[in-house]
Amino acid sequence: MSVRIAPSILAADFARLADDVAVVERAGADVLHVDVMDGHFVPNITVGVPVVKALKRVTALPLDVHLMISDPDRYLDAFIDAGASMLTVHAEATPHLHRTLTRIRQLGAKAGAALNPSTPIATLSDVAHELDYVLIMSVNPGFGGQRFIPRSLEKIAALQVWLTASGSTAAIEVDGGVDLANANALSRAGASILVAGVSIFGTPDAAAATGALRRAADAR
Ligand code: DX5
Ligand code: ZN
Repeated sequence: MSVRIAPSILAADFARLADDVAVVERAGADVLHVDVMDGHFVPNITVGVPVVKALKRVTALPLDVHLMISDPDRYLDAFIDAGASMLTVHAEATPHLHRTLTRIRQLGAKAGAALNPSTPIATLSDVAHELDYVLIMSVNPGFGGQRFIPRSLEKIAALQVWLTASGSTAAIEVDGGVDLANANALSRAGASILVAGVSIFGTPDAAAATGALRRAADAR
């Protein structure tokens, strides 16, 4: 199965967001990745519910909302009402991950847990069946355009082994520093959703970059 390409709007032109989204949608992007940062869980502030709502009006792509916020439970309903069809919380940001994931599903969205580079995959041992996907951070969250942490590749491979052994069909999403150079190795290791900011919107031709990333990831 082909990997899913998830352009991250963090690297798009926020003054021309609808246009940038239309470009990657026409180019065959599968989902749109939206980074929500609160200046508390991560040292940066980005966008919130109103932007998700606005994106929902201009694209048919599923909105993959990555919450890099403290106490995400307070906002699950709001983001799903606004149009998130995939909602990711950080395992480090909520003390009741089982409840949070269950609630996301009850609200009708796909539930994902994100792990920072320093968080072991064993953190998820007891929620294997509550997960629709796991987001492996391959940079420390907070900013686009950072360098991929090589150890993430082994982490993804180990996660794939553990998910299979647990009888979980959760997908693996990878986020941070994904580019043409590592896409193939990531997909071979088990990642099936590739988030890409700068390597798509930071290029002169975001449409071509979307296609090139998919071809690189799928090459066998
Ligand atoms: C980083 C965000 C990423 C970011 C990726 O904290 O979660 O989604 O947009 O950007 P690139 O692909 O530029 O590393
Ligand atoms: Zn992200």
